[in-house]
Amino acid sequence: MKWFTLVAVLAESSQAALRFGCSVLSVQRLDPLVQPGAIPSTHVHQIIGGNAFNATIRTDDVSKGASCTTCVFSEDFSNYWTALLYFKARNGTYKRVPQYVNADLTSGIQAGMTVYYTQQDFSSNGNKHITAFQPGFRMTVGSPTVTSSTKAASQKGLRYTCLQTIMTRGAETAAFPTAPCPAGIMAIHHFPACWDGKNLDSPNHQDHMYDTSTGGFQVASACPSTHPVRMPQLAYETMWNTTAFNDKSIWPTDGSQPFVWSYNDKLGYGTHGDYVFGWKDDALQRAMNSSCMFTGCGTDQGGPLKVQAAAAMNACKVPDTVTEDIGTNAWLSVLPGQKAD
Ligand SMILES: *[C@@H]1O[C@H](CO)[C@@H](O)[C@H](O)[C@H]1NC(C)=O
Ligand SMILES: *[C@@H]1O[C@H](CO)[C@@H](O)[C@H](O)[C@H]1NC(C)=O
Ligand SMILES: *[C@@H]1O[C@H](CO)[C@@H](O)[C@H](O)[C@H]1NC(C)=O
Ligand SMILES: *[C@@H]1O[C@H](CO)[C@@H](O)[C@H](O)[C@H]1NC(C)=O
Repeated sequence: MKWFTLVAVLAESSQAALRFGCSVLSVQRLDPLVQPGAIPSTHVHQIIGGNAFNATIRTDDVSKGASCTTCVFSEDFSNYWTALLYFKARNGTYKRVPQYVNADLTSGIQAGMTVYYTQQDFSSNGNKHITAFQPGFRMTVGSPTVTSSTKAASQKGLRYTCLQTIMTRGAETAAFPTAPCPAGIMAIHHFPACWDGKNLDSPNHQDHMYDTSTGGFQVASACPSTHPVRMPQLAYETMWNTTAFNDKSIWPTDGSQPFVWSYNDKLGYGTHGDYVFGWKDDALQRAMNSSCMFTGCGTDQGGPLKVQAAAAMNACKVPDTVTEDIGTNAWLSVLPGQKAD
């Protein structure tokens, strides 16, 4: 189903659905969840959210160390990140793929990601209270080590859409699209939403959560007794502008698709996302308790959440502690931190 047709369904219900843009905070080789303290980490990430992000992100309450955020809701100092997408040309060199701003978001922002916090699905919480994440909470979804199509197919929340236009939805795939996509590639990360009720994190950053998503924004299954607490359904959409690289004469001669994640994944099965909760005080719970929807969640439209203008979002940045060419301008012979093929 398309989210814009679901809007009409949701309008009749009384459950909150947040959808908002966050501009880019930083693009560098840092990974405070999986490789805390490593400067640099093994692969490049693109990061959005609060400016407390660094190589050793604090474990108590990240909102306490932040003074600005790239998200439109100004009480959201969380950090959200994914790998960076590259194009590998026929001659074997790599260039970073730029991101662009999704439809119906604050205009003028520097593309990062679209973030969702929804209920059990788009239109209902399944008559269950949604418990917001707590300070110190973090999790990951997916893993760069996944190389099997079976495993990738089973991760129903991790998908790609080949964008014919900015509005294309549905027709999601577990692997990178195989043909050029006129409006780029959307990478989708739906996180698990059932919590064990005890642990803010776990050694693999996943065992404290359980995934009941059935794909897209469809109704999730019930949470199991081991992970009984239903939390917001967190999801990211990242719009990768492949336009400059859609000329097949620079694609590999064997016709294979040329896009590759920053950890050198040509199939796309290792797609993964990271999350560190950082909403100020009870702002997220307040929103999830309300029946606000998308931009209607902002105080400017009578909703519960404070909003900020694009200029303030774009002005929030984390300086580069890893200074290297990540392929923004130059063509790279090797992906940063990776081995040559
Ligand atoms: C990360 O930020 C904390 C403060 O939030 C600071 O104490 C620490 O030195 C920073 N670490 C790095 C590697 O920048
Ligand atoms: C490699 O290919 C890209 C894309 O066609 C081109 O812009 C670049 O100049 C090439 N680099 C070399 C060293 O040939
Ligand atoms: C996508 O990239 C192309 C080519 O670089 C550029 O002309 C276009 O403006 C970009 N589209 C968006 C929506 O940013
Ligand atoms: C959210 O709703 C729950 C259950 O109704 C209530 O206990 C809690 O105080 C509410 N929290 C906020 C911040 O509104």
